[in-house]
Parts: sequence; C-alpha cells; structure tokens
Amino acid sequence: MNIVVVGGGGREHAIIRKLKENPSVEAIHACPGNGGISCDAVCHDVAATDIDGVAALCKEVKADFVVVTPDDPLVLGMVDALNAAGFRTFGPNKAAAIIEGSKVFSKDLMKRYDIPTAGYEIFDDPTEALRYIEQNDTYPIVIKADGLALGKGVIIAKSYEEAKDGIHSIMEDKIFGASGNHVVIEEFLTGPEVSVLCFTDSKTIRTMVSSMDHKRVYDNDEGPNTGGMGTISPNPFYTPEVEEECMRKIFLPTIEAMNKEGRPFKGCLYFGLMLTQKGPYVIEYNCRFGDPETQVVLPLLQTDLLTIMEAVYDEKLSELDIQWKNGASACVVMASGGYPKSYPKGIEITGLDENGQLDGAVIYHAGTKAEDGRIKTAGGRVLGVTAVGDSLQQALDKAYEAVGKIHFDGAHYRKDIGKKSF
Ligand code: AMP
Ligand code: GLY
Repeated sequence: MNIVVVGGGGREHAIIRKLKENPSVEAIHACPGNGGISCDAVCHDVAATDIDGVAALCKEVKADFVVVTPDDPLVLGMVDALNAAGFRTFGPNKAAAIIEGSKVFSKDLMKRYDIPTAGYEIFDDPTEALRYIEQNDTYPIVIKADGLALGKGVIIAKSYEEAKDGIHSIMEDKIFGASGNHVVIEEFLTGPEVSVLCFTDSKTIRTMVSSMDHKRVYDNDEGPNTGGMGTISPNPFYTPEVEEECMRKIFLPTIEAMNKEGRPFKGCLYFGLMLTQKGPYVIEYNCRFGDPETQVVLPLLQTDLLTIMEAVYDEKLSELDIQWKNGASACVVMASGGYPKSYPKGIEITGLDENGQLDGAVIYHAGTKAEDGRIKTAGGRVLGVTAVGDSLQQALDKAYEAVGKIHFDGAHYRKDIGKKSF
C-alpha cells in the first residue's frame, strides 16, 4: 500500500514509524515531513495546509490511504476534499473538526449536552469582556481565543491588569488573527491533567492508553505555555474508576452529541481533562492526535495502526480488539534556545546515532531538516527523545540517557518530566 501522511512534526514521525510496522505498507509519503522523517518516508515539498497540493500528490503516488494529522488542514476541510476525490482518509471532516476549531462551539456543545466543563461566558466585544471580568472579580481567570492558536491561545490571568493585557492582545492586537474575534472567559479549575486520545468511527469509541503532557517550558511548571515539553504514558492519576466515569460522563456523551448535531466524528478525538474535586472536567477537545502525547502512546500500541485507521474509515471499529503493551513510556522534548519565544534555526545536531542507539529508545524528529548529509534544527521543538520500559522510572532513565548523548547549541529541555507521578 502507498500511504500519504500529512504533517511534519514529532507526532507524524511517531505515526509513520508505527504505520511502517505493517508489512503491506510499501511506501509512505509525507507532506512536508522533516529531517528525521526523510529516513522513514519520502518527503514532498507540499505544505500540510495545501489542500490542492496534497490532493494532487495523492493522485500522483496513487495513495491507497491518507492520514491527515494536524489541526489546521482538518479544520480547513482537507478530509472532505480528499474523500470527494476518492481517497480513503483518516481524520474528521470539516463539520466535525470544529470541535477543536472553535472553542465557542465546543463550550456550547458541552453546555447543551451536560458534559462537565468549566463555567464560561463568550464575548465578541473587548469592553464587555473586561466589564464582566471586573464584576466577576475572581482570579485567576482563564481567557481563551475562540480559534486555533498553536496551543498558545490560553491566558491564565492572575489579576485584572493581566486579564486586560490578555483581552487587548487577543481581541484588539489580534495576536492570533481572526481566532481572537471571540473569546471564552472561563472559571479556573485545579487538579491533575490527563490527556486521553480515542479512536472513534462515530459509532464506537476506543480509548488509547492515557498520558500526561508538560505544557510549561521550565521545570516545576514554570514559564510560558508551549506546544508540550514532554509526556509520559500511562498517566498514574487515570485509574480504572476515573476511566469508567469519563466514559459515562464525557466520552460517550461527546460522540452522541456530535452525532445529534449532524457532525459525526471519525478519527482521533483528544480529550484534555482535569481531574477536579468534583470529578473529571473537559479542558479542551482536539480533533487529532496530540503532540507530544502520540510519541508516548503509539509505542505502547500492540495492534496494527493501519488496520485500526482503516476500521475507523470503514466504520467497523466495533469489530476490532485493540491491544496495548504493558509497561510505560516517556518522551523528553529537546527545544531550540529561546523557544517558545523566537529561536535560531539551522544549528547542527550531533549524537543522534553516532553514540550508539539505546535499546528501547527512539528519537522522533519534530523541527529538523536534513542538509548536506547533516541534521539541523528547523523549529522550536526539535526532538522528542522517547523510551519504553517495564516501569515509568525505567522509561524515564532511558530517555534521559539518550538525551545526554545528543547535542546542539542552545538546546534546552525539562529535567522533571514525569516527576509528578512519584
Ligand atoms: P488548552 O490549550 O485549552 O489545553 O489550555 C492550555 C493549558 O491551560 C491547559 O493544559 C491547562 O493547564 C490550562 N487551562 C486551560 N483551561 C483551564 C481552566 N479552565 N482552568 C485551569 N487551567 C486551565
Ligand atoms: N500536547 C497538546 C496538544 O497536542 O494539543
């Protein structure tokens, strides 16, 4: 089979590696891929958001199956276009991807269908938003841009002044463009966070092993939010009792709600949860695999990934028994100096394999490019150094040992991934 994978980050590298385990996969094509992916797939200079370009490539390589991974092409309707062109594709259509594309939509959905989420108000006028914040007078308060914002559209304001700056930058300076035309202002919740990715064909939902992201850039959850600085799986806070409660109050009701809205969701649905004193609450939905959650979840998947993705497309997920490996995995993200603010690119990375690969460790490339036979940095999050082990401690030790062998100028990473679990 010829497979096309749309995207070019660490998550896509993990998906490609997993798809390659299927012996019927002949070739994988990536749009656009990255330096590391180029060792596992044929990379094409087609942007992940270029719907016509991706459709043309699928035709050219006679794609048997397409996986659309990032949020923006999904929200733009790439799956609709590929389906219309006759390609079997994994990922939600535009109508369903709105669950991530608009926080106003997802908050209203949860309210309508009684799915637990933080109390909220929606505003399209900055003056009214600020009047509400002033009258509410409770801090911290959470301000979210309605649309996509590279995982950075959430501001947790500890004072009226901070809230004012946040509203100003989202709604007036439009730092996230039209994504800031509306804001959601919501109640601040506390508790451990859990990421749960699910396969669903809109009839059946199958949860993957749980994981924990580390969103802040520095140790002890300090500094600004990032796309994610590391992950562990499984998440120790996500017990079988919590899973049962989430299935009953959140997962199944969400699938049913989307069906009732005439927006059946097929693909990977990501639940960002907070385990509060009052039970699990939804912090966010994503219409796709998480990054870097995928890097720790997929190495624990026993069942063939392509078989599952095809079952989702064919709406036959109920016929599959999905198996997971025992043990744990950990991913440490190595980032460019300066990230999540501005950072240099084009810096050579050494130690990727010349120091000897560690058994059970795998380095997923996120922001890299291959140039003159070398691998260089090309993004903020550069590598996802991942390891599996019998225990979380083993996986972490191995991942950090592998990190120690890699070097690029300015590299930084968190030293406390998974620490909250012990
Ligand atoms: P999001 O991009 O929606 O996942 O939000 C980024 C991060 O902001 C989350 O992982 C949480 O740590 C935090 N966050 C979002 N909403 C809330 C909330 N209502 N209360 C507390 N923290 C939140
Ligand atoms: N790691 C969080 C996300 O993928 O949105």
